[in-house]
Amino acid sequence: MSTRRKLVVGNWKMHGSHAANAELLQGILAGGPVNADLAVCVPFPYLSEVAVTLANSNVAWGAQDVSAHEQGAYTGEVSAGMLREFGCRYAIVGHSERRAYHGETDQVVADKAKAALSKGITPIVCVGETLAQREAGETEAVVKRQLSAVIHALGHCVGEMVVAYEPVWAIGTGKVATPEQAQAVHALLRAQLRAAAPQADNMKILYGGSMKPDNAPTLLAQPDIDGGLIGGAALKAADFLAIARAA
Ligand code: G3P
Repeated sequence: MSTRRKLVVGNWKMHGSHAANAELLQGILAGGPVNADLAVCVPFPYLSEVAVTLANSNVAWGAQDVSAHEQGAYTGEVSAGMLREFGCRYAIVGHSERRAYHGETDQVVADKAKAALSKGITPIVCVGETLAQREAGETEAVVKRQLSAVIHALGHCVGEMVVAYEPVWAIGTGKVATPEQAQAVHALLRAQLRAAAPQADNMKILYGGSMKPDNAPTLLAQPDIDGGLIGGAALKAADFLAIARAA
C-alpha cells in the first residue's frame, strides 16, 4: 500500500434535499475521525448549506462541474470564482455522465480543469472507458487520450489535480472493476503522470465505479489506488464512512 493519504469523495450527483442533506452530513460528522481525507461534491443549490454545516469540520466540499469560462454570457453555468466564494475545495470535471449527456470533449474537460485551478480549486478529473471500448481493447488508448488533454492544458500545474479512473461500465451498475483491472489502469495513469509531472508519485488517483464497503478494502489496498470517488454509497453515511475506514 502506498504512503499517499487516501482521499474519499462523495459524488451526490442529482440527489438531495434540505432534510436529507442535513441527516446525511450529520451522520458523516458523527462518524468520528477516519484515516482518510473526506469530501462531498454536491449539487450547486446546496453549496451554501453544506458550507455552513461542514465549516470547521474535517470534511471538505465541492461541486460536480465548473464552467470553463471566468464569467460572461454563459447561461446556466457556474464559474470557479463563484465556487470559491462558497468555499469549494474541489470540482469534479469530465464525469462520464457529463461527457455522455452534455457532449463534453477532452478539450472542454481540460479547459474546465484549468479554470478550476485558476481559482485555487482542485479539479477531480474523471477518465474512463465504456464497456465497448474495453471489449475492443481500447482502454489504455482512451484513458491516456483523455488525461493527455488535461496534462497539456495544465502545463506546470499538472501536479495540482486529482485524477479519477471511472470505468463507465462500473458506474451505478454494481459491476465493480476487479482490483487487478483497476490497478492496471491506475498504473498506466501513474506512468503517464510521471512523464509529465515531478510530483506524480504524490498525486492522488481515485477509483470510482460501484465502490462499496465490501469491495473497498481490496481496491484501496492497491498501490496506485489512492481513494475513491463514490456515487450511490455516498448517499448513506454508514456506507460512506465504512469505505473511508477501509482506506
Ligand atoms: O463519480 C462517482 C460515480 O460515478 C460512481 O457511482 O454509484 O457506481 O459509486 P457509483
